[in-house]
Amino acid sequence: MKRLKDTRETALKASRAYYAHRAYYEDLLAQRQRRFAKANKREIGFLEYAFNACPTRSVKDVLDVACGGGRHVFGLAKLGYDCTGMDYTPERIQVAKERAKRLGVSVKLLQGDATRLSFENEFDAVLALYILFLLPNDDDVLRCLRLIHRALRPGGILVCNVGNPFCEGKHWFSLKTVYDGLGVVEDRAPGIRSTEVFRLRDFDPMHGVAWWQETSTIEASDGIHIFRDRERLRLFTYWDIVHYLQLAGFREVKCYPDWETNPPKKPKAEMLVFVSRKD
Ligand SMILES: C[S@@+](CC[C@H](N)C(=O)[O-])C[C@H]1O[C@@H](n2cnc3c(N)ncnc32)[C@H](O)[C@@H]1O
Repeated sequence: MKRLKDTRETALKASRAYYAHRAYYEDLLAQRQRRFAKANKREIGFLEYAFNACPTRSVKDVLDVACGGGRHVFGLAKLGYDCTGMDYTPERIQVAKERAKRLGVSVKLLQGDATRLSFENEFDAVLALYILFLLPNDDDVLRCLRLIHRALRPGGILVCNVGNPFCEGKHWFSLKTVYDGLGVVEDRAPGIRSTEVFRLRDFDPMHGVAWWQETSTIEASDGIHIFRDRERLRLFTYWDIVHYLQLAGFREVKCYPDWETNPPKKPKAEMLVFVSRKD
């Protein structure tokens, strides 16, 4: 297998190829699954909780720096927030625009890179959800968080999340997967079935990165599709994120494992959700 050069451009290109094509079917699958609708509702509920709990700012203007198909911005727009969604992959922005039209929600949608944000003092809240693991290197993670800090108005909040490597489930980010290496995930919903065979290779514990290789087969009403993907993924611990947020200038970093608003100590949670504030 040919090794890809480990550069920022390679990572972005691989990510774009994946999200431009495979993600269309992922979205289709998700839209038809009750489980997904439930998870989505929980995340929107959490965001509303975090906005209302912000003691320093009344939240109205929200930016999502990697909005994908737009699920978070659409949910928030329906609750009355003024939302801007941005994503690096133009095909995802196009899909989001079509969906916004179908749903009748008004959201500003832009193509852009989360590590090249040009906003300044424009938002009361910023979301960086299911994105930090895709940023190519430590400099990009820090730059992204610093630019989010600049995009926020004083007192505004950032909500971001990462998968917890110490979780017990069979997620790609669990240490079990990192060391066992190989995984198979089958998923189905009415009219669509997906089988994903993946492995994590070349885990570099110094930098917390691994190469993800995947072959997935999607059976949908428009035929059978085979996708092959290779991406560079970053694993973070709780302390990595706390450290990055502090370096980027954020204060009062709070962690809510698994989107629970009354968080118990849960070192084996699947998802670590962070809310932090700009002074
Ligand atoms: C796992 S999806 C998450 C999408 C969305 N936040 C959600 O939870 O549904 C990751 C998204 O990040 C986008 N992305 C990857 N690199 C990016 C970058 N540098 N800037 C902005 N978006 C990026 C991809 O195009 C993809 O839509």
